[in-house]
Amino acid sequence: MERYKGIIPDWERFWEAVHTPLPTVIRTNTIKTTPEKLKQRLEAKGFRLEPLPWNPLLFRVKGEAPIGATLEHWLGHYYVQEATQSLPALALDPKPGERILDLCAAPGGKATQIAALIENRGTLVANDVNPKRLRALMANVYRLGAICCVVTECRGEHFPGAGIFDRVLVDAPCSAEGTARKYPRLRRGAAPGYIQRMAAIQRGLLYRALELVRPGGIVVYSTCTIAPEENEGVVSRAIKRGLAEILPFEPSVPHVRGLPRFGREEYGKEMENAVRIYPYHFDSDGGFIAVLRRLG
Ligand SMILES: C[S@@+](CC[C@H](N)C(=O)[O-])C[C@H]1O[C@@H](n2cnc3c(N)ncnc32)[C@H](O)[C@@H]1O
Repeated sequence: MERYKGIIPDWERFWEAVHTPLPTVIRTNTIKTTPEKLKQRLEAKGFRLEPLPWNPLLFRVKGEAPIGATLEHWLGHYYVQEATQSLPALALDPKPGERILDLCAAPGGKATQIAALIENRGTLVANDVNPKRLRALMANVYRLGAICCVVTECRGEHFPGAGIFDRVLVDAPCSAEGTARKYPRLRRGAAPGYIQRMAAIQRGLLYRALELVRPGGIVVYSTCTIAPEENEGVVSRAIKRGLAEILPFEPSVPHVRGLPRFGREEYGKEMENAVRIYPYHFDSDGGFIAVLRRLG
């Protein structure tokens, strides 16, 4: 990760955070319950729940028992989700009644969040390519009661149709460097060849998403990696092709702006409309989020 020293504003805090265990965070599933009821039920079982100041649906949880082994979990009252991972669906800003595609949806953290945000009204297509992960996706859709959701199995690059969705989320497969707190081997950073291979897949997924969304519709591109080649590098190619414009995203959490350049690559000043999250920002994972509007 040394190559990121020049772009991460507080390298010491970053490196310290990467070596600190992740807190457990859960997201209230408003399809089934409220944050107040959830807190009451889990605290009655001996857990301690502390709401995150910027999102009352998220709680930091402490307790002796595993948080995935409660009745409330099986009933779908909550989803265990890193705080950073709750941001892409908020950036998508889905509305009840809309047609929404989650192109890389498994195991369903963001898809079930979208279903809750649209109050189960509208059509949500949750797609993935990996059969094993699709089973987890279907289980989560069922458990959380996301009845507006249909699940499909398709390579995202070949998802059929054109201009049929109001919003598309591309939560892309990536080198996952932002999850180094959970997976210490990633502290070394991902191999350059792997980053390039992921970037090629990500470009294919983003270009297809920009065909699947209607003109004027919104595509959110997100990853959990720090590598600029997989973030600004992918988004800037779509912008330079004239497929989309990038809209400012202003989350209510600490963050830094996307990079206009990295090394010899010039991505463009408009990349500052995107958002980078580092693990020290609010004690979570690292990530990248860009909000795009389809042109033409
Ligand atoms: C970052 S994970 C998605 C996490 C998910 N959005 C969530 O919030 O739970 C990326 C997903 O992309 C899927 N994937 C990889 N290549 C794909 C492709 N070509 N088309 C569609 N999905 C793909 C992987 O199977 C994986 O489930």
